[in-house]
Amino acid sequence: MEEARQVDATRRGRFITLEGPDGAGKTTQAHLVAAILRAHGKEVVTTREPGGTAVGNRLRQVLLDPETPVQPTTETLLMFAARAEHVARVIEPALAAGRWVVCDRFTDSTFAYQGDGRGIAKGDIEALAAFTHAGCWPDLTLCLDVPPATSAERMHERTLDGFEREDGDFHRRVREGFAKRAAKEARIVVIDGSRALDMVSRAVRNTVEAFIRRSEATR
Ligand code: TYD
Repeated sequence: MEEARQVDATRRGRFITLEGPDGAGKTTQAHLVAAILRAHGKEVVTTREPGGTAVGNRLRQVLLDPETPVQPTTETLLMFAARAEHVARVIEPALAAGRWVVCDRFTDSTFAYQGDGRGIAKGDIEALAAFTHAGCWPDLTLCLDVPPATSAERMHERTLDGFEREDGDFHRRVREGFAKRAAKEARIVVIDGSRALDMVSRAVRNTVEAFIRRSEATR
């Protein structure tokens, strides 16, 4: 068993991201994805954005603090600054060493939140993505979709960060933004996150296991 878990450093790992509006249940499903991959003998690195590095976590504090609101342009640049560190120090080295990376949010969130949510031009986000992580895009993205009413209900109990305090209209635009990304990118699989947890988990498991089979077939 131990042997099966050894990192296959001769080939690049795979990059899997979880996306979706706030309160979609990504974090629970990210743990499940990592557990499925480990059960298939993959060495897994789990991480999240904004964050994942020392500098990234400091930027995360600034970005999520309702007391320090910033301009949409600043917000976008800080997201990519955190991402540049994360890709260079964590994601790329792990993939190059044959590890699989499971990341809670990545650039699709920037398109949805800063693009559709805040009105930053998509072309600018594309240019920043190319500057920051050209050649390092997720191989599979699970996008958990929930209507704003469900997110609001699930967030009711939490202390809300700056994004979560935005109004319903902002959250509707963000959800729409994810739907547009999914229509454009074949790697994005939309999963209805409004159902009971075991049904969402089953859909996530099926998607991840099918992806593992596909990636083993192309070895
Ligand atoms: P997250 O850690 O998923 O929040 P939570 O665990 O509370 O669901 O993400 C933090 C917030 O950052 C989230 O509201 C979305 C926002 N965000 C952006 O606006 N743009 C981005 O590029 C990323 C990665 C996150």
